[in-house]
Amino acid sequence: MILSLDHIAIAVPDLEKAIERWGKDFGLTLAGTEDVETAKTSTAFFPVPGTRIELVHPLRGTGPIVKYLEKRGGGMHHLCFAVDDIRAEMSRLQGLGYRFLSEEPSIGAHESLVVFIHPKSTDGVLVELVQHTQDGH
Ligand code: CO
Repeated sequence: MILSLDHIAIAVPDLEKAIERWGKDFGLTLAGTEDVETAKTSTAFFPVPGTRIELVHPLRGTGPIVKYLEKRGGGMHHLCFAVDDIRAEMSRLQGLGYRFLSEEPSIGAHESLVVFIHPKSTDGVLVELVQHTQDGH
């Protein structure tokens, strides 16, 4: 079951500059930054009521964001729904014909479990599902 819109992720070519923009220019508060080794991304989170803006940037010049930036030079990368039971939601959606980018959830930011629905299943929108650990992140 979907619980909330967890975050909207924006791929940025210059993380420091983007942190300045979303923080200083737009007045959002930077909650933190995290390098996610499994996703090969450097991330920065800005909470807004009910959800968060997540900036994503290639980790040490590698990972899936590199190709995205080469092709589009930055942009809206994915949106993410928090779910109560990620494996149950995966098998429910697979039963409806949805494809996923991986067979199993992987460890995301804050040690959550994450998986991506293939954008071909969702009119070109990359949709992430996240199940948070019980420490409430
Ligand atoms: Co995400």
